[in-house]
Amino acid sequence: MSTRQETWLITGGAGFIGANFVHLAHAQSNAKLVILDALTYAGDMTRMETLLNDPRVVFEKCDLVDAQAVHAVFVKHQPDHVIHFAAESHVDRSILGPTAFIKSNIEGTAHLLMAAKETWNGQWDGHRFVHVSTDEVYGTLAPNDPPFSEESQYAPNSPYAASKAASDHLVRAWHQTYGLPAIITNCCNNYGPWQFPEKLIPLFVSNAVEEKPLPVYGDGMQVREWLHVDDHCEAIMTVLQKGIPGEVYLIGGGAELPNIEIIQEICKSVDQLLNRSDGDTSKLITYVEDRLGHDRRYAISGDKILRELGWEAKRPFNEGLYETVKWYLENTQWVENAKSGAYRDFYESQYKNRLDGAGKVS
Ligand code: NAD
Ligand code: DAU
Repeated sequence: MSTRQETWLITGGAGFIGANFVHLAHAQSNAKLVILDALTYAGDMTRMETLLNDPRVVFEKCDLVDAQAVHAVFVKHQPDHVIHFAAESHVDRSILGPTAFIKSNIEGTAHLLMAAKETWNGQWDGHRFVHVSTDEVYGTLAPNDPPFSEESQYAPNSPYAASKAASDHLVRAWHQTYGLPAIITNCCNNYGPWQFPEKLIPLFVSNAVEEKPLPVYGDGMQVREWLHVDDHCEAIMTVLQKGIPGEVYLIGGGAELPNIEIIQEICKSVDQLLNRSDGDTSKLITYVEDRLGHDRRYAISGDKILRELGWEAKRPFNEGLYETVKWYLENTQWVENAKSGAYRDFYESQYKNRLDGAGKVS
């Protein structure tokens, strides 16, 4: 049996999901893990501080927009597999400034595909290119629509979703045209430790701690399906090991809930964990002007990945959410660091006018 050590190139490995995946890959494989990341505002190496002294973990600061730099990383490390997480990932930022999304998510993915094709050079055996994408490429569902499946039509509504849809199409084309052994995964909303505090759950916990308003967009009845990041990472590991090139797998968690219910749960957990009186935190709920083009509902059918690869989510949402709120309360310093600097400008642009014209919870 061959004992050759594999090399896995993990793009966006300093981000929320990528870093959680690096931890899982470190625990479950003996592969050399090359983390390629530009360290944008969302990238943070403290997410994997505990691994950086291990020679099995290598960091390459590299912007996917720089084709030559991407190529050089491939030449240097000759990766067996690519697991592609790197992207601009926040919908609100894509509405305020789409250019970075077009560059990183579309051009960046193209550069990665070109470097993989050139390096593997038609010798596809033993290689995989796993492209980590989102359910947002399918647009929005009406209340009684069946969940998204691998056959759903693409109908992205935000600049973020459109840029991810475009990247999915590029990956598909590289498989169809050149035979690159690529697989696409489209996942629902992730939650868990180390998420950047611009996203709903960490933002609301952080604002609750500081007794700042909790800005609910529109009527708060938009529905999302939620999956613990550990489950998502295990699904990606399953796809890497057992997935079929050219296939698409949707990854879901089964916890489909309106935003306001999650927000109420966050408030209850904060009350409990900070010894506040029942209902104290929910007084901070503030309804604000809606997100432009806000998708009403996402939901995922996980039938294919269960049937074909035997994967399904394990973590019950209520327990996972409580543990996650607790993690943010125990790691306020990390959250504060993430919220310093340029984040303040983003917060101001996104929320100031909304909060100035806001209605309080009735
Ligand atoms: P994130 O914003 O937390 O992390 C993204 C990482 O990519 C950061 O470390 C950042 O520095 C890096 N990056 C961005 N642009 C880059 C570039 N041009 N070159 C190199 N590195 C760059 O994102 P996340 O939430 O961890 O999401 C990871 C992936 O999973 C994304 O592709 C996203 O579309 C997808 N996804 C996310 C979710 C979710 O709920 N967060 C759900 C489904 C799919
Ligand atoms: O569905 C998968 C997607 O989930 C990923 O592809 C994205 O990268 C990820 O950011 C996430 O997108 P959402 O837009 O669903 O996540 P966000 O945390 O920004 O918002 C979740 C819901 O909460 C959404 O309906 C908008 C709402 N919301 C969000 C924020 C930040 C609010 O009501 N107020 C807020 O301040």
